[in-house]
Amino acid sequence: NFTPNSFVEEIVEELKNKIGNDKVVLGLSGGVDSTVAAVLLNKAIGANLYCIFVNNGLLRKNEFENVLHQYKDMGLNVKGVDASDRFLSQLAGIDDPETKRKTIGRVFIEVFDDEAHLLTDVKWLAQGTIYPDVIESVSVKGPSATIKSHHNVGGLPDFMKLQVVEPLRMLFKDEVRRVGASLGIDPELLGRHPFPGPGLSIRILGDITPEKVRILQEVDHVFIQGLKDHGLYDKVWQAGAILLPVNSVGVMGDERTYEKVVALRAVESTDGMTADWVHLPYEFLMKVSNEIINKVKGVNRVVYDISSKPPATIEWE
Ligand code: XMP
Repeated sequence: NFTPNSFVEEIVEELKNKIGNDKVVLGLSGGVDSTVAAVLLNKAIGANLYCIFVNNGLLRKNEFENVLHQYKDMGLNVKGVDASDRFLSQLAGIDDPETKRKTIGRVFIEVFDDEAHLLTDVKWLAQGTIYPDVIESVSVKGPSATIKSHHNVGGLPDFMKLQVVEPLRMLFKDEVRRVGASLGIDPELLGRHPFPGPGLSIRILGDITPEKVRILQEVDHVFIQGLKDHGLYDKVWQAGAILLPVNSVGVMGDERTYEKVVALRAVESTDGMTADWVHLPYEFLMKVSNEIINKVKGVNRVVYDISSKPPATIEWE
């Protein structure tokens, strides 16, 4: 029978004993796991925990600034690194989904390694690995897996030679959320939808440009804010928008337009392995569609994805 409070007490004690006065570096993603891991370590070793939060330029609208601010308010010793240009320039011209993932994984490791080198005498690398990641370590997804595949390919970046500490490696997702709640982490942060490591890059079908990222961020923002405003966000497991690589004809006043099409996706799921599309109310879809087309320049058509997994996947790439 899992009790968050006693878990916290025990693990904090264990972390103190294990780490002592050593320095630890940890990559924050804005997601639940890395945040809970950071707060636990912060409780155990305070400012000897050095958190790095990288903006890959593919996060949701205002996400980097908002979440960085939240981290600072939580008392974490965190450095925000805006590497958007570095990621976007490396991604230019790439349209193959797996190449996008690999490129993002590689650049992340480069950026993280550069940052880790600015710190002196770090002994540990902390990760927010949870139990399903441990048992599914053959999966090709997630930053830890990216690091593993990099590891297999060539020389190990220096931060990967550090000793690894993973305070959540025995926990399931719901237990991580309960630990987070008992640590006083904002329920809104703990209730966030899953978001893929490669971010919006795999929701922009075809090649990625800063302008496409901007369009998709705006569309996604209208959709997610709409779900929140209508009390639907917590009823959905994951939601987002996809920018399609086609233009469609529309009409505005007396003019024909020829602009982008976006798809909205909202699914119910328990673990992401299977998923059903959510029957969002028509009234809601109508409002969101109008708002997107009115507000987001460059988009003249919105469609809703009614495919389940399997045979479709949650993401389009
Ligand atoms: P699919 O599209 O495979 O997605 O049905 C299942 C879940 O995994 C997330 N996802 C990823 N997460 N790196 C990640 O960290 C990835 O490359 C990646 N691809 C998909 C997806 O958002 C969903 O939650």
